[in-house]
Amino acid sequence: MTTTSDAPIRKKLIEVSIPLEDINAASAHEKSVPRKGHPATMHLWWAPRPLAAARAVLFAQLVDDPSSNPNLSECQQKAERERLHDIIRRLVKWESINNETLLREAHAEIVKSAGGRPPTILDPFAGGGTIPLEAQRLGLSTHGSDLNPVPALKTKALIEFPPTFAGQSPVFPGAAEAKLGEWPRATGLAEDVRRYGAWVRDSARERIGHLYPDAQIINDKTKRSEPTTTIAWIWARTLTCPNPACEHRDAARALLAPQHKEGEADVPRTHRR
Ligand SMILES: C[S@@+](CC[C@H](N)C(=O)[O-])C[C@H]1O[C@@H](n2cnc3c(N)ncnc32)[C@H](O)[C@@H]1O
Repeated sequence: MTTTSDAPIRKKLIEVSIPLEDINAASAHEKSVPRKGHPATMHLWWAPRPLAAARAVLFAQLVDDPSSNPNLSECQQKAERERLHDIIRRLVKWESINNETLLREAHAEIVKSAGGRPPTILDPFAGGGTIPLEAQRLGLSTHGSDLNPVPALKTKALIEFPPTFAGQSPVFPGAAEAKLGEWPRATGLAEDVRRYGAWVRDSARERIGHLYPDAQIINDKTKRSEPTTTIAWIWARTLTCPNPACEHRDAARALLAPQHKEGEADVPRTHRR
């Protein structure tokens, strides 16, 4: 926030007190809510901050502590501080994440403390985008950047694409007509992501699915081989053991000797002497 040298510096709520126990509890609870739909699951990135904590800290940094108002008695300051704490307590709840009335209330407090001109939030090391996302949720203009293109793209998808396509119907053929009524917020975009995602998956399965058969595993109880859905395939070179008595075929990477001298053949380590 810009301050001029002669402007009084007002204490922010975070400098005096915040309802830490409630924030901690909500942050811990966030890990146990159904993960489907949680932004952290879009693409894993290092050390994702709890959304609740980021929201609370942003709010507490941006609203004035009541002690900065000289017209309030100590008793009034205490009551006013408790009112702000109560906003935080409600704000950090996972169930409130889309509560527009509450978010508007929080935004109004920030605007009031900022003299009608709320600051723009910049996180130059945005990582997975928690801070820009939560600043945007509080109705603030937001910017984020990151040296690494992976979190940069993730943050773009979190804070740039949804507002860009807000209120628009999906463009996947037939999707818009499949539902009556409007497509509020980013629901049209979400429908397109679902439909195009399914289309890419089905087309890929049709063309190359035969190369990825179900795995066969032995059922412990029946001792019979059963097909099982494979959740990930790891591409690996394979080598056949040159020992004619063995001819075992295995993934090369784990079996190769670490010191590979020039001219030496790639042979499984187990048969090296
Ligand atoms: C700890 S993470 C950021 C966490 C994020 N601010 C949050 O609150 O969740 C640090 C990020 O800084 C990025 N980074 C490191 N050096 C950078 C640089 N010189 N310029 C921009 N980003 C950088 C890394 O790629 C990494 O994603």
